[in-house]
Amino acid sequence: MTDVPMPQVLGYCDDWSVAAGGTIRFRIASLTSARPYRAQLVRVISSDTGPAGAGLKTEDVAAPLNGIHEAALRPIPVGSFVLVDRPDAVEGLGSFTVQALVQPMLRERAQQAIVSTLVEGGRRPGFALIVDQDGALAIHFADGTRISTGAPMELGRWHHVAASVDATRGEVFVRQTPLPARGFDRPPAVEAAGVAAVGRLAPGALRIGAIGRAGPTPGHFATWLFNGKIEAPSLADRALAPEDLRAAAAAGTTMPPSDCLRAAWDFTQDIAGVTVRDIGPRKLHGRTVNAPKRAVVGSRWDGSEHDWRRAPAHYAAIHFHEDDLYDACWPDTLTWSIPADQRSAIYALRLDTDGAPPFWITFFVRPPRGKATARLAFLASTATYSVYANYRARMVPSTVDLAFGALQQIDGTDMLVMAHPELGASTYDKHPDGSGVCHVSLLRPLVNVRPTGRLWNLQLDLCLIDWLEAQGIAYDVVTDDDLHREGLSLLENYAVVMSGCHPEYWSAAMWDGLDAWLNRGGRFMYMGGNGFYWKVTYVETHPGMIELRRAEGGTRAWAEVPGEYLHASTGDLGGLWRRNGRTPNSLVGVGFIAQGFDYASWYERTPASRDDRVAWMFEGVGEARLGDYGCALGGAAGMEIDCASTALGTPAHALVVASSVEHSKVMNLVVEEINAGFSGAYGGTWPAVRADIAFFETPGGGAMWSTGSISFVGSLAHRGYDNGISRMTANVVRRFLDPRPFEIPARA
Ligand SMILES: [Fe+2]
Repeated sequence: MTDVPMPQVLGYCDDWSVAAGGTIRFRIASLTSARPYRAQLVRVISSDTGPAGAGLKTEDVAAPLNGIHEAALRPIPVGSFVLVDRPDAVEGLGSFTVQALVQPMLRERAQQAIVSTLVEGGRRPGFALIVDQDGALAIHFADGTRISTGAPMELGRWHHVAASVDATRGEVFVRQTPLPARGFDRPPAVEAAGVAAVGRLAPGALRIGAIGRAGPTPGHFATWLFNGKIEAPSLADRALAPEDLRAAAAAGTTMPPSDCLRAAWDFTQDIAGVTVRDIGPRKLHGRTVNAPKRAVVGSRWDGSEHDWRRAPAHYAAIHFHEDDLYDACWPDTLTWSIPADQRSAIYALRLDTDGAPPFWITFFVRPPRGKATARLAFLASTATYSVYANYRARMVPSTVDLAFGALQQIDGTDMLVMAHPELGASTYDKHPDGSGVCHVSLLRPLVNVRPTGRLWNLQLDLCLIDWLEAQGIAYDVVTDDDLHREGLSLLENYAVVMSGCHPEYWSAAMWDGLDAWLNRGGRFMYMGGNGFYWKVTYVETHPGMIELRRAEGGTRAWAEVPGEYLHASTGDLGGLWRRNGRTPNSLVGVGFIAQGFDYASWYERTPASRDDRVAWMFEGVGEARLGDYGCALGGAAGMEIDCASTALGTPAHALVVASSVEHSKVMNLVVEEINAGFSGAYGGTWPAVRADIAFFETPGGGAMWSTGSISFVGSLAHRGYDNGISRMTANVVRRFLDPRPFEIPARA
């Protein structure tokens, strides 16, 4: 696989949803070596979906930034930590004591810093309290002296850790004390003593969870990154005696006596923010870098409280990961001042280098705020694109075999996430310490939001764009990000809004905006499956970042840690929308029921499809096996599918006009429909496992049409767009654009 050529020049933009008349800034560099590249701006019309698809179609856009440029070599400062960027943090300290509570989660690293004043390669006096390569507590000095307890700490257990340094005598003492936990293991505390020539500490920044590293963006580059939780780190400005540290450990406290308190960082404050408060006399406040996970259970959490706002003392920890990444910190390299009359569409800046596949920076040009340029809008699922960005687990064979039931097709661009872990991960991945990734950021190169590759989301959504173009249907492109920011006012200028194939992740503001528009007569075409499923938050303190907690249940890549179900950014309960009082069925008539990736099937019409209310929908459709073709696994009903359920809120007057049949035994029922284990023998014969095409009228003269399948849009282009799926979709667009109001039928 390593012989597969990979893109050599990468990039991202400052904000991928931008209005005509605005400016977009591109940040472009190479992770391997400085080299020239050609930039070409294109409008994206269709994607490469293989032999059964319409093929890649782009249209060059004239712009001053097109041409040959030079990409600099730039690293990405991956890894989260707390930066206390105050030269006086340790200035002048001779003797000192450093303490913290830690829950190490990973070994197999040369060293992981808990609290440090070191910069890699630096010679000036400094220290790092670390977990060493054996998993033992150690203190490391700038001259290389290292004094370790020599005994590994137990992964996942809280420990009191302390090191005291008597500069005048050159004496060093370290102690790691396992804290009591449920169960009956009682690992012993371990102490060690040694000598070191320390000298007075040099002025400079202090870091919690890392040491500094030289880099083009001072402060952001770190190494010796910690994997696990840290709570209540503190500094005292004298060497506390071993008996004092034993007593502190027994009490589970790290707070030095007031007469020697230098700093004590209290992570229970500003949990939703970036500031890390020092409650000591010098107010040595810090800030988080690369968005470590906050609102996490700490050493004192006993299960009695699940809301960090009500018991902050139980949530006094921060969880750091070596692959957390918020901001790649690349400078702006190219900009495009978008003409005010530039058509709203999907665009990309294509970066070409010799002998390597291109890299695509995809972005979305929407009309100026408040101005629609078409009566129909495509709502790009940018929240979902974000959450999937740099999906690493997809490369792991076990995921391919177990979850997908068939080999996936991957290419050199997909391989970038394996070759360059500094690109960060998606929320489908786990961190190296086994915990789930709950933050995802757009401020880094995104390898899988592009018109090539073999993943659903944008790639399949382009089948819909291609179809709109082929049908001559005028459309605007707006995004989830816009809907989150503007709500109803974004949608109210449109008669019809079409989703993509997989609008899975929704913020509350997005949902509220769509719901309000639907109640005022909006007409929505839900063109996918497994939509309106997970709740996400756009994190205000980190523009471009989304937070997700895969809480409680759901068909999910990982399970959230008990006690950590509430978002740090808002305090809202995360997880499935159906567990937050909103079901997809109540909004769009259908909801997630099964997933399978071996093949996609077709739909058959139901008796309800003969109802006069939907006679217009089937004009010219005439297929017994509706959608038995397509580029998304060979059929219109597949990958992830939804069905109607009145128990889950499908309106009583909804008509299920077609249902899919003949799914295989690896079209697996979603786990949230299963209360107790079952043999699995039902497989695809479970009666609910089907995609339903549903229609219903809404208040205010509007209507809803839902396809209930990710694969659906992959069938639109079959036989030169001359097929039942295409005709039915065109019938719906035509009727939905017709201003004649829909009426909810009177109850029989
Ligand atoms: Fe998904």
